[in-house]
Amino acid sequence: MKRTTTCGALRKADTGKTVVLNGWVHRKRDHGGISFINLRDRYGISQVVVDSDAPAELSALTAELRNEFCIAVEGTVRSRPDTMINPDMPTGEIEVVAKKLLILNRSEVLPFQVDEESEAKEELRLSYRYLDLRSAGMQRRIKLRNDAAFAVREWMIGQGFYEIETPTFIKSTPEGARDYLVPSRLYPGKFYALPQSPQLYKQILMVGGFDKYFQIARCYRDEDARGDRQPEFTQIDIEMSFVGRDDILAMTEGLMGHVFKKTLDRELPPQFTRLSYEDALERYGSDKPDLRFAMTMQDFGPYVADGGFQAFKDALAAGETDKAAAAAKGVSLAGGGVKVLVVPGKADYSRKQIEELEAQAKIYKAKGLAWMKVTGTEAAATLEGGVAKFFGESAQKICAGLGAKPGDLLLLVADSQRKVANIALGAVRSKLGRDLGLTGPGPDGKPRFEFAWIVDFPLFEFNEEENRWEAAHHMFSWPQDRYHATLEQDPGSVKGDLYDLVLNGYELASGSIRIHDPELQKRIFSIVGFDPAEAEQKFGFLTQAFKYGAPPHGGIAPGLDRLVMLMAGETSIKEVIAFPKNSFAVSPMDNCPSEVDQKQLDELHLSVVQPKKD
Ligand code: AMO
Ligand code: AMP
Repeated sequence: MKRTTTCGALRKADTGKTVVLNGWVHRKRDHGGISFINLRDRYGISQVVVDSDAPAELSALTAELRNEFCIAVEGTVRSRPDTMINPDMPTGEIEVVAKKLLILNRSEVLPFQVDEESEAKEELRLSYRYLDLRSAGMQRRIKLRNDAAFAVREWMIGQGFYEIETPTFIKSTPEGARDYLVPSRLYPGKFYALPQSPQLYKQILMVGGFDKYFQIARCYRDEDARGDRQPEFTQIDIEMSFVGRDDILAMTEGLMGHVFKKTLDRELPPQFTRLSYEDALERYGSDKPDLRFAMTMQDFGPYVADGGFQAFKDALAAGETDKAAAAAKGVSLAGGGVKVLVVPGKADYSRKQIEELEAQAKIYKAKGLAWMKVTGTEAAATLEGGVAKFFGESAQKICAGLGAKPGDLLLLVADSQRKVANIALGAVRSKLGRDLGLTGPGPDGKPRFEFAWIVDFPLFEFNEEENRWEAAHHMFSWPQDRYHATLEQDPGSVKGDLYDLVLNGYELASGSIRIHDPELQKRIFSIVGFDPAEAEQKFGFLTQAFKYGAPPHGGIAPGLDRLVMLMAGETSIKEVIAFPKNSFAVSPMDNCPSEVDQKQLDELHLSVVQPKKD
């Protein structure tokens, strides 16, 4: 009873053939002696009929069948009468009249129905992932992931890249997140680390002369899980020698174009929009802006002096004071800011809706969310409600300057730190995008994919808590040439050759041109407070390698999970990973992490110190 075809293959032209199908009972319906079995496998669903005049043995077996029994059926393909054709099923014109049936395996009572999409709670889906994986949604997404990974390899290898594996037992080096460690049995007290990314190895491959490298690489980071983060995830890791930033951007555009064309039959623009980090923050309040809708933020600073709203004036004044104090210490600060969002046609927003937006802004440290409604006429605009009473006299000037029309809603955030005002109002913009359905399908009814490059990132960020500079991306990124002379004087103003690829409001990829000059690398280590001895101990192998004619090089790493998640229109990468961890870094199916035997611990020279209970 081995299958001769699959459950998705049969068509009208197959009428009369004798076939064997293997699969799972998706649904069974009994209609007065006749039974209909929807038999399912990876390829589709076929309707199997057990007629009322079937032999007694066949009828008896059919009566036993329950959902998700694994069975084999031998039968004849029959055309369905016109009235019974199901146009929604690719196999809807035929049915298979069963002659013989074999139960390959029974199923216990199911914890949830295997459907198009599982309605079960996530924890249950992950506990019984093998059942969840049978759902049409998971089957489709795992296929999409396969197709995307195949398209990546096809394109990269076609462009002359080698796929080279790098180790997953590596030296623990500071790379941003916390490492997962693997204790060494042979060397008590010593550990391997699982790679947070193949970063150092891919750079050393450049020194090794493999000028175009890629790898679909597993990465491990001990950080809190979120919708778009998992403790283990997959990157399309890429590195090239003898290239500049624009070569990497063009290569990545080519790769994305190929993957979208091959897997979704979608044309992407040959080049993606580029935005500087600063413009992204000023206009969208995010370094990963969602460009599926415009509604950009504007500067309300020029109108503050004309009005009488003290909170705005105070924010700008405090920003100036902080800026002057920082300047005295040689650090440049942006000062304060008052930013405004013009929400077209939403002057009818209720107090409650505005309060919800304010709550969103406050999560991102805003002190409040001020608002005004544009009224009057286009020629003589007036402002009403909220803080309008402070700006009545300059209403026309404000509305003309901002391009605001009667019926629009103005939302404003002021802060002594311009970045806080930007990010908080950016969070309001994102929420509005979702609430107002601005992120929906395009005019052709298809999901939109809006890519953008964010470039010119600052190389360093100031860590207020630890009172020191740290690398914004990682310590190996190239400071743009014009800052080389003055790196140490004003680290905050240094821009790096760093770039992020953003898709629909998610960071899809990150990369940079790297430092290949050991002297420059030493200066960077010293700015982020790595003393030479520590740098030698942690990264000595890299600086050593760079002494032997390291080529100029750079790279990028798109996250495969995020890419497939966005292609599938999902908001959690768990939906595109066969066996993900839950939000607590646990796999409910096999219950890992788990305790191990004392013997294993002894062999590894480990003892467990239980955390104190409070
Ligand atoms: P970065 O740390 O920005 O850069 O990671 C690159 C991309 O990997 C994906 N990603 C993740 N996906 C799921 N879960 C996670 N926890 C997670 N963390 C990151 C994102 C992200 O954009 N070595 C550098 C790249 C380089 O410079 O070439 C790196 O790892 O899509
Ligand atoms: P108040 O005068 O403090 O009662 O504030 C009046 C309005 O201004 C309220 O809607 C506050 O949310 C808002 N508001 C107060 N401070 C700020 C600020 N820094 N930025 C934006 N709005 C603010």
